[in-house]
Amino acid sequence: MKIIFHHLFLLSTLVTLFSCKEKTTTSGESNDNIVTDIHSYAKPEKAVVKHLSLELKADFEIKKLSGTATYQIEVKDGADSISLDTKGLDIQQVTVDGKNTPFSLGKEDPWLGQALSIPVSHGSKNLVIAYSTRPTAEALQWLVPSQTAGKQHPYLFTQGEAILTRTWIPIQDSPGIRLTYDAKITVPADLMAVMSAVSPQEKNKDGVYTFKMDQPIPAYLIALAIGDISFKSIGKRTGVYTEQVLLDAAVYEFADMEKLVETAESLYGPYQWERYDVIVLPPSFPFGGMENPRLTFATPTIIAGDRSLIALIAHELAHSWSGNLVTNATWNDFWLNEGFTVYFERRIIEALYDKSYSDMLAVLGLQDLKGEMEDLPVDDTHLYLNLAGRNPDDGMTGVAYEKGALFLTMLEQKAGREKFDAFLRKYFADHKFQSMTTQKFLTYLDENLIKPNQLTVNVDEWVYKPGLPDSIPVFKAERFIKVDAQVAAFMNGRKAGSLETKEWSTLEWLHFIKALPDSLAEADMTDLDQAFKFTASNNSEIKDAWFKLAIYQGYGAKIMPEIRSFLVNVGRRKFLTPLYTALVEKGMTKDARSIFEEAKPNYHSIATGTIQALLDKAN
Ligand code: BES
Ligand code: ZN
Repeated sequence: MKIIFHHLFLLSTLVTLFSCKEKTTTSGESNDNIVTDIHSYAKPEKAVVKHLSLELKADFEIKKLSGTATYQIEVKDGADSISLDTKGLDIQQVTVDGKNTPFSLGKEDPWLGQALSIPVSHGSKNLVIAYSTRPTAEALQWLVPSQTAGKQHPYLFTQGEAILTRTWIPIQDSPGIRLTYDAKITVPADLMAVMSAVSPQEKNKDGVYTFKMDQPIPAYLIALAIGDISFKSIGKRTGVYTEQVLLDAAVYEFADMEKLVETAESLYGPYQWERYDVIVLPPSFPFGGMENPRLTFATPTIIAGDRSLIALIAHELAHSWSGNLVTNATWNDFWLNEGFTVYFERRIIEALYDKSYSDMLAVLGLQDLKGEMEDLPVDDTHLYLNLAGRNPDDGMTGVAYEKGALFLTMLEQKAGREKFDAFLRKYFADHKFQSMTTQKFLTYLDENLIKPNQLTVNVDEWVYKPGLPDSIPVFKAERFIKVDAQVAAFMNGRKAGSLETKEWSTLEWLHFIKALPDSLAEADMTDLDQAFKFTASNNSEIKDAWFKLAIYQGYGAKIMPEIRSFLVNVGRRKFLTPLYTALVEKGMTKDARSIFEEAKPNYHSIATGTIQALLDKAN
């Protein structure tokens, strides 16, 4: 399951351009436990937001959210202003404790937006900002009815991670700052709103929905979706939201959700967010999943019809501990979110299904990481990143995920599973609802696992050095040995139809496709496609891998209508990037451009940005 998040933006010039902000520390930490976040204008040492009350109306005609954000703030002694992050917001009025107050917007940075600075004093308690978003707000994707499953109603969803929440809410948009929130969202009649909070399960007549999130969360986890949404329960704490036409398929696909939650709890302690629901969004959602608390946002491409892509739900659920409960303090510490989560995801899958399955996930993950690392600047292969002056999205590669998970697997192997699990359980319990820096984690690791058990671990090499240490854990996937044998048989001239592929899961099929060389003859490709119906597969992972092989092999032109239709209809960046890259590398840039032109209206800004940069570079 390849994770390609890195953009192909030209970085070096930007680094020099934007690294001149006043507060830059290399370690990301200062002495008094307040962490410097280079991607936020917030100054938590002066003043922080503790609670947010949103009151917004969604207008689909003009693609705007507008209303007020009311904040409970805490101003430190001696401070004279509070600073919030904003990007492309129209601020109409600011009041502090009921008094109309002048405000100032700082210089605009292309990634960070503008600081909104408001004069306050030690006793100030209540801040109200009247504002509206613009149609270009990057966190928001406004869909017309034809871009939804039901085709009757428009849709809106938000994507906050990493630093996009500031494009729809003026906020201290740093993962090191937590707040509680409530909201009142007004939507057109017929539509329903849900958020990463206590959400309704039914539509109401007036189109006014209220929400409450009582646990403190970082701003990137505030999320909203509005559409013709229905809900169906799965277990006592779990359920699915989606459009009516997808509801039954989603319920079938996620039948194990309640068991996933129980399994996760048995590993790392009580689930802290009461409910765990998933909303299946329209296909333009740029990610596989996003771990918004209480309500994972998911791509419809995980509905494969055979429950085979459930690891993605395990992953987003795992973030309820790693990420949402204990949160990376800055985006340089992103591996603390994703590396832990990939490790945890595979432990959940192993416990609920079996080890042969999680082993396959690990082998595929490592294989993809090795491929991805070949194309990455070496500094991006460190676990602890230095994203100064960059769009954090650029540094978010498979390294945080797979190298992070390997690091934890290595620790597990050294300490033994029992001790390592006890360590993780205590880690989550000791730091719940807090943020975590790499340095703080390493100190905790040293004191609670390495020293007490007298382990020898090359921590610095893993965290602060490029590439993969020689001592990476070795995974063997028994089930892939059989797949490799079938690949060999096929290469030796056996016909596809006579290969032994009975009872293969999606993961075996993915391994099979990825193990095929791109030097196959066209007749072989036709044989494979006729026998296994890859081009027509309902499984988006298989389709993606097959299309990639086909393009590199030279079979792409033959199935171009299918490739086009996939790229036009699916906005999940993990699928788009490898396919557009393959087209460009095979000299089919013209096709790539023409497909992109058609597809662009369907893509979220996050995907458009990546693909546009990729095509710009192709010249
Ligand atoms: N939190 C990420 C998605 C994300 C990462 C959004 C960086 C914005 C910036 C989410 O948990 C994730 O990793 N999703 C993966 C799925 C997973 C199974 C690896 C995806 O979307 O492919
Ligand atoms: Zn994740």
